[in-house]
Amino acid sequence: MKVYMSADSSSQAIGTREIAEALTASAAQRALELTLVRTGSRGLYWLEPMLEVERDGRREAFGPLTPADVPGVLDALAAGHAHPRALGPVEALPEEQGQQRVNFRRCGVVAPGDWRDYLATGGMLGLRRALELGADGVVAAVTASGLRGRGGAGFPTGVKWRTTRAAAADTKFIVCNADEGDSGTFADRMLMEGDPLSLIEGMVIAGYAVGAAQGFIYLRSEYPLAREVLERAIETAYANGLLGADALGSGARFDVHLRLGAGAYICGEETSLLESLEGKRGTVRYKPPLPAMEGLFGKPTVVNNVITLATVPAILTDGAEAYAALGHGRSRGTLTLQLCGNVRRPGLYELPFGVTLGHVVQTLGGGSASGRPVRAVQVGGPLGAYFPVELFDTPLDYEAFAARGGMLGHGGVVVFDDTVDMLEQARFAMEFCALESCGKCTPCRIGSTRGAELIERMRGGARAQQLTLLEDLCEVMEQGSLCALGGLTPVPVRSAFKHFPEDFQPAAVAAA
Ligand code: NAI
Ligand code: SF4
Repeated sequence: MKVYMSADSSSQAIGTREIAEALTASAAQRALELTLVRTGSRGLYWLEPMLEVERDGRREAFGPLTPADVPGVLDALAAGHAHPRALGPVEALPEEQGQQRVNFRRCGVVAPGDWRDYLATGGMLGLRRALELGADGVVAAVTASGLRGRGGAGFPTGVKWRTTRAAAADTKFIVCNADEGDSGTFADRMLMEGDPLSLIEGMVIAGYAVGAAQGFIYLRSEYPLAREVLERAIETAYANGLLGADALGSGARFDVHLRLGAGAYICGEETSLLESLEGKRGTVRYKPPLPAMEGLFGKPTVVNNVITLATVPAILTDGAEAYAALGHGRSRGTLTLQLCGNVRRPGLYELPFGVTLGHVVQTLGGGSASGRPVRAVQVGGPLGAYFPVELFDTPLDYEAFAARGGMLGHGGVVVFDDTVDMLEQARFAMEFCALESCGKCTPCRIGSTRGAELIERMRGGARAQQLTLLEDLCEVMEQGSLCALGGLTPVPVRSAFKHFPEDFQPAAVAAA
């Protein structure tokens, strides 16, 4: 019998290792021949630990399981009986929710980094297509697909690549930003742990398109499993000619190096990341020059997020038009939403842009895990706005979110029920900025500390005066900060007092 279980970090945290041990022990007791394949995750975390059993070419899912369930599942399978934890064909589960797996098509399906699995599931077709199109054709296809940077800013990828391609230089670089620091986000990690070869293929294609021979993956040190999986995948890519002297027949050399960060949030900002890669302290550089023109070691550099690069092979395989046909407004393709916090069905949902926030939280997520009413949702990481239930009709689309004072960012969605203290959330935003500031500019370095103090003081009264000061401070931070950390910290703060003013009233403050 062939069975599959996720071995990614999140699934292991929920207990898949214990289920795998129980499974092996139960199979041995029954003298049952069992092949257990450890995969990445399908992102259906509310069903983990989940076991998939291959039968008649299909995979049937069981979950969520405890180790005590395992003998019963094996007995039911042997007898052909139903089991209370049976979930049916696993492929149908995300489809029933309207998910469309483009980036994550292989996650949970293949053994991560297995070359044969990769080829059997359409791996390398993107690079082959790239070689047919030629470098200019690839840039044109990526532009036509409408792909925008998934790290958070949503800048058009094709435009970035065109800039670097056009830059005259003997050396150019591809840098993958895998320093996924936003709270509530895990899509990059899931992709790297579940389908690392698609990221490497995407980097090779990017290198071919812009004329770069070297790529760096800048990975946060908090992701030790992703590191292991990537190291193995890079070896596999060299062994099979995807990397090296003639990167799969492109006629050009392409190498990928893995580098580890040291835990600073600001090193996810592209210029700090480049400083860190160069072996310096991670502080933000002035822009311009843009990294696309003058990046790593002063050379033209494409800096793209993991998901952005890993999407490119799928875009070229399916065709730019197919990707552009998905989505809403100027947000084309799919968004990989990471739903977590106080929610019944946390997980990764890959959906075409355009569904509403309310649909995601209430229908897909099933509302709060506590059963209490949902009160606030923070979208876009710690620098994202808090949206109240009244804004649940906002479509998930970069422009629609911005029009309502928010940002989609890297697609993290954190849910809070009605016990949340929004004054505390506003204070936390300032404190986070104070902790993570690189210290280069005053509005961020000093302003964030003063902001946290001001909000704390509101608990003691004199609210109106503090609010005026806070509003002034937010304006200074927004206008005077060099990078998004200081510049966007006012977003969660302002949204908290705009949408939840009652938490800043003297009565609420006194009661807290
Ligand atoms: P940005 O808007 O300054 O730049 C976006 C990207 O486009 C950069 O790579 C920039 O170099 C490039 N670019 C801009 N104009 C260009 C041009 N004319 N030609 C070529 N390239 C061009 O935004 P930034 O500061 O890079 O990122 C801010 C975003 O990062 C925030 O919106 C936030 O959502 C996100 N973020 C994500 C985190 C994560 O963990 N994924 C953590 C913190 C922030
Ligand atoms: Fe550094 Fe903050 Fe200024 Fe960004 S805004 S450059 S993190 S001090």
